[in-house]
Amino acid sequence: MSVMTFPVSDRVARMKGSSTLLAAQAAAEMRAQGIDVIDLSVGEPDFDTPEFIKTYAWEGIEKGFTKYTATAGLLDFRNAVIEFYAKRFGAEIKLNEVAASCGGKQALFNAACTLLNPGDDVLIPKPYWVTFPEIITFCGANSVFIETEQTDFILTADQVAAAITDKTKLLIINSPSNPSGRVIPPAEMKRIVEVCAARGIYVLTDECYLFFAYPPAEPFSLATLPDELREYVCVAGSFSKTYAMTGWRVGYTIANSEWTKAMIKLQSHSATHPTSFVQYACARALRNPEKSMAAVSAMTSEYERRRDWFVPALNEIGGFQCSMPEGAFYAFVDVREMLGDRFATSADVAEFLLREAYIVVTDGAGFGADGFIRFSYATSMKNLQRAVEKMKAMFGEKGVAAA
Ligand SMILES: Cc1ncc(COP(=O)(O)O)c(C=O)c1O
Repeated sequence: MSVMTFPVSDRVARMKGSSTLLAAQAAAEMRAQGIDVIDLSVGEPDFDTPEFIKTYAWEGIEKGFTKYTATAGLLDFRNAVIEFYAKRFGAEIKLNEVAASCGGKQALFNAACTLLNPGDDVLIPKPYWVTFPEIITFCGANSVFIETEQTDFILTADQVAAAITDKTKLLIINSPSNPSGRVIPPAEMKRIVEVCAARGIYVLTDECYLFFAYPPAEPFSLATLPDELREYVCVAGSFSKTYAMTGWRVGYTIANSEWTKAMIKLQSHSATHPTSFVQYACARALRNPEKSMAAVSAMTSEYERRRDWFVPALNEIGGFQCSMPEGAFYAFVDVREMLGDRFATSADVAEFLLREAYIVVTDGAGFGADGFIRFSYATSMKNLQRAVEKMKAMFGEKGVAAA
């Protein structure tokens, strides 16, 4: 084939590739060379999908759930989401407010693309999940970032109020957060929506890590807000992390009926719907909350156990500073104290860890937080211990010189 310059569309050309996937790629390449890497860049559970969900998927195939479903998803899937939210959170959601999507990512894309016009402003608190600004760029809208360092990366209603302009159409929130692991307290979440709703601004809440909130924090969904506030909210839900089902590609949106209708229209011309028998399996899992929540609790407890060991251990390393995350499975470490002669940026520290210790991490710059590094603890305790041991040897312990 002749070599040519492919004329990539302007709006895709403006988007950046995913920095988290780049780190994963670096790890894969080193592994392929036979190097024993410690991968702390992963954004997915290290657990297998629970056996009973796999069994439901086989059952779905055998029962003939192998053809198209409605674009909004199987009726049974949508009703199972509604019943689950009613039982677990006391939420009252109507059928025309739910739609299935291919993962949380498509839920977010559907929500943004059906609301935004070029020139609209979208508020995004820092640090943010890498995909948020890229979706906004794709829509031709502008990302307006909110600094949250003064409140230790926990967004407040006052910060939102101060950032609103005449062009603000949407706020995107993600609690528990990737990358910071911080959780916005439920009362503050409600105040944030109140501030937005009063100005006619919509709120897109990415609840991908909803169930990974460690006591005393608790899972809190904006789907539970009273109707007059929920009118302005779109929940982007996902089965990926909650049930260790990243490869199954299933998520959903909960939004007002008009927004939902627009998202279904858009999806009818793109992915159509997530895989039929996967929807069947997810509906069965949601209708069996004792079993599915027991599986989720077991995973959550293990993440919590790792966090309780890993974060204090990171804080013993010279130059590292990390607040205790209340949720998700990431530790977001401030390494600015280390910058100067040896390292100019946090990307240099990440690069050094990769080159000298084969530890793969994700630099904070892609999350809008230069000077920070994200460590995922969705890996074995043994890997976390090996990584800490190596980093203590490289950087020294606080109050103790490096070896
Ligand atoms: C904050 C956040 N939202 C959404 C997603 C995407 O999830 P899904 O696999 O359901 O598309 C991820 C995945 O890493 C994430 O971290």
